Amino acid sequence: MGFRQLAWRALFLAGCVSAIDFNINNNETIKKSATVEFENLLVNGVLDGTLSPINDSGYPEGMLYSSLIPYWSATGNATYNSLILMRMESVETSVFNATWKGADVPTSEYVSWGLAAMAAADVDFPFPGDRKKSAWVFWAMAVGYKLDMIINRGAVCDGGLYDDESQKNGTEFDWFSNGAYFQLVSRIALAFPPNKGTFINYADNAWSWSEKNGMVNTTDWTVSQMVSNTTTVNGSTCTAVDTSRWSYAYGLYLSGAAHMYNVTGSDTWRTRTEGLLNSTLDTFFVNNILVEVGNGSASVANHPSIAFKGFLALCLASVANLIPDMADQIVPLLKDTAVAVAEQCDGSSNQTVCGSDWGNSTYNNDPSFGNTWNAANVFTSYLLTQGNLTTGA
Ligand SMILES: *[C@@H]1O[C@H](CO)[C@@H](O)[C@H](O)[C@H]1NC(C)=O
Ligand SMILES: *[C@@H]1O[C@H](CO)[C@@H](O)[C@H](O)[C@H]1NC(C)=O
Ligand SMILES: *[C@@H]1O[C@H](CO)[C@@H](O)[C@H](O)[C@H]1NC(C)=O
Ligand SMILES: *[C@@H]1O[C@H](CO)[C@@H](O)[C@H](O)[C@H]1NC(C)=O
Ligand SMILES: *[C@@H]1O[C@H](CO)[C@@H](O)[C@H](O)[C@H]1NC(C)=O
Ligand SMILES: *[C@@H]1O[C@H](CO)[C@@H](O)[C@H](O)[C@H]1NC(C)=O
Ligand SMILES: *[C@@H]1O[C@H](CO)[C@@H](O)[C@H](O)[C@H]1NC(C)=O
Ligand SMILES: *[C@@H]1O[C@H](CO)[C@@H](O)[C@H](O)[C@H]1NC(C)=O
Ligand SMILES: *[C@@H]1O[C@H](CO)[C@@H](O)[C@H](O)[C@H]1NC(C)=O
Ligand SMILES: *[C@@H]1O[C@H](CO)[C@@H](O)[C@H](O)[C@H]1NC(C)=O
Ligand SMILES: *[C@@H]1O[C@H](CO)[C@@H](O)[C@H](O)[C@H]1NC(C)=O
Ligand SMILES: *[C@@H]1O[C@H](CO)[C@@H](O)[C@H](O)[C@H]1NC(C)=O
Repeated sequence: MGFRQLAWRALFLAGCVSAIDFNINNNETIKKSATVEFENLLVNGVLDGTLSPINDSGYPEGMLYSSLIPYWSATGNATYNSLILMRMESVETSVFNATWKGADVPTSEYVSWGLAAMAAADVDFPFPGDRKKSAWVFWAMAVGYKLDMIINRGAVCDGGLYDDESQKNGTEFDWFSNGAYFQLVSRIALAFPPNKGTFINYADNAWSWSEKNGMVNTTDWTVSQMVSNTTTVNGSTCTAVDTSRWSYAYGLYLSGAAHMYNVTGSDTWRTRTEGLLNSTLDTFFVNNILVEVGNGSASVANHPSIAFKGFLALCLASVANLIPDMADQIVPLLKDTAVAVAEQCDGSSNQTVCGSDWGNSTYNNDPSFGNTWNAANVFTSYLLTQGNLTTGA
């Protein structure tokens, strides 16, 4: 079924007129398509350091660089590199170099800055002046260390990171902060051998906590939205109080597990990666096309969650690269999804605006920041699975 569909789509697309000129068999056209969609995403924004529309849209700012840095790596287009650098350096003192209390940002913001630094470390993002490129991993570690201290101080549920709303004294723990922390420390464990032991330990603990408290269920391999203290005894084990599924939640835990498998080679991490990969592919792909499910569908069009699936695509690309024998399961799906998204991206008078109905080849007149971002991330994700493309860019 996947093959038939792909052949049909490829044929159709060959005759389709869109200003993004996308051809899945030509990496240069995919790069151009990613470039056009990032331009659409940011062209009307104020990128002077205050960064509208990101700052008005509910996304942690670091997420933007976790997407623009891989874009640079996949395409070689350095247009946004100075913006990335300026923004990262602008929070060096207030976030990366601050105490947890001093930073005074929500946990989701904080961990997202850590992931942005990790994205930079992973691809040797340039650092001008006499600073070494390798310094990025120290920025990421600064976040990892501080979050580890917060986790261990948690009185409720024996650890874990509170969600933003109950950060100070609440009892709820969300997938975003906990999944992102797990992914962050797993990536550091792989990227920085001298501190491997410490970060493997952090990642082991983060996984165990997630499993013990019902965030990740290793029987059916689901990841829940929220866990909380619902027990009637002190010492409290938490359970899932909201089992909504979000694509990026699976992406964070899945790619974290893949990093752990890559760094440890252990059967346990292999099983965890496989289990989450199975449930992710079963849950978030319909007819080979990436979909958000549950709360994440069209009813929340302008909610930040719209762009989660593009981040799942980036996570899947990293799994395919880290565990080559899983690439066969992943790459064809990213490929079909990229083709399907491209078909939605011929809206508006410039014929580059993306709709949201990826199952339909006709632009559905539903433009949004999140849809554009998804398209850019999906194109980038597919490129990341196609080898080192930056040569000659
Ligand atoms: C580019 O695309 C082609 C065709 O899809 C693919 O076979 C190739 O491996 C890709 N990567 C590079 C680095 O050319
Ligand atoms: C790099 O991106 C910029 C901004 O989107 C674009 O104007 C430029 O043409 C791109 N460069 C290449 C070589 O594609
Ligand atoms: C394409 O058109 C859309 C909708 O009119 C607009 O928001 C976007 O900025 C345009 N793209 C560019 C690169 O100007
Ligand atoms: C976002 O940045 C814009 C542009 O500088 C600014 O006008 C706006 O107040 C900022 N919004 C928030 C929520 O900080
Ligand atoms: C933080 O401060 C220390 C000491 O002043 C400095 O060496 C380090 O490079 C700074 N930056 C980060 C990201 O830790
Ligand atoms: C967990 O919840 C129960 C019941 O609400 C409460 O008695 C207990 O103190 C809580 N445990 C912690 C550590 O907050
Ligand atoms: C958290 O503590 C603050 C004061 O420190 C209090 O005003 C607020 O009601 C508390 N919130 C919860 C959910 O307990
Ligand atoms: C995990 O999933 C299984 C199968 O759906 C279910 O029976 C079990 O109750 C779940 N465990 C927890 C802790 O929710
Ligand atoms: C994942 O799916 C494959 C194929 O159905 C199956 O063989 C494997 O046991 C599954 N892995 C886990 C951990 O559930
Ligand atoms: C770890 O990832 C690299 C590619 O980044 C790959 O070459 C290597 O085979 C992987 N190791 C394992 C144990 O999967
Ligand atoms: C695809 O979109 C077109 C135009 O909006 C609509 O007429 C058609 O019914 C849709 N097809 C499917 C299969 O949803
Ligand atoms: C990709 O190719 C470029 C240009 O040849 C090179 O500078 C870069 O180191 C390569 N990256 C990787 C990860 O091999």
